Amino acid sequence: MKKQIKNTLALYPTPLVVVGAMVDGKPNWLLAGHVGIIGHDRIMISLASSHYTNQGIRETGKLSVNIVDENLLSKADRAGCVSGAKEDKSSLFDYVIDDFGAPMIGQAPIVMECAVDDIYLTDGFESYICKINRTFAEEHILGPEGKINYRILKPVLFEMPTYGYLRTGDVIGGCTSFGKKQ
Ligand SMILES: Cc1cc2nc3c(=O)[nH]c(=O)nc-3n(C[C@H](O)[C@H](O)[C@H](O)COP(=O)(O)O)c2cc1C
Repeated sequence: MKKQIKNTLALYPTPLVVVGAMVDGKPNWLLAGHVGIIGHDRIMISLASSHYTNQGIRETGKLSVNIVDENLLSKADRAGCVSGAKEDKSSLFDYVIDDFGAPMIGQAPIVMECAVDDIYLTDGFESYICKINRTFAEEHILGPEGKINYRILKPVLFEMPTYGYLRTGDVIGGCTSFGKKQ
């Protein structure tokens, strides 16, 4: 028997990312778990409007989305604890800036350079609909065909009810392997 738990947002766990953007000519970093996939070439990052990072995203229309693995977690967590409005977070990570212009974390296993396509506004939040311009991956997480191997990468997951970080688990099976047998 199910119990109604109000209109609780229940879509967890989600992968955790560090969002990078230039704010006032300096890199700033923010940790985000409210992320989503749109079609095959766009992603969504949902940020509270008051965050310092948003100022840079709104101004430049560019951001980097850095997947968090366990190596990156400690610094990523710091990016989620303090605002760039209060503390300079520009040197929290080693970074590179290429011709696109959004700062990217050198240590991140995967980085997507994104251009803002649209902003969906809700009460207190700006959800950025972003087109992926280029994706960079560390070679050791790529399989023989050049595809990302998430079993090697092991992205850190975020869940709200315990406000905790989760590790990805075991392989259950191949997609459609169950359905095709029925
Ligand atoms: C685990 C975790 C997940 C977070 N996810 C989000 C998120 O999805 N959206 C958001 O707006 N803030 C999120 N935050 C909060 C921001 O990362 C945090 O307020 C940050 O300090 C804002 O930095 P800024 O003001 O420099 O932009 C999260 C924080 C933590 C610790």
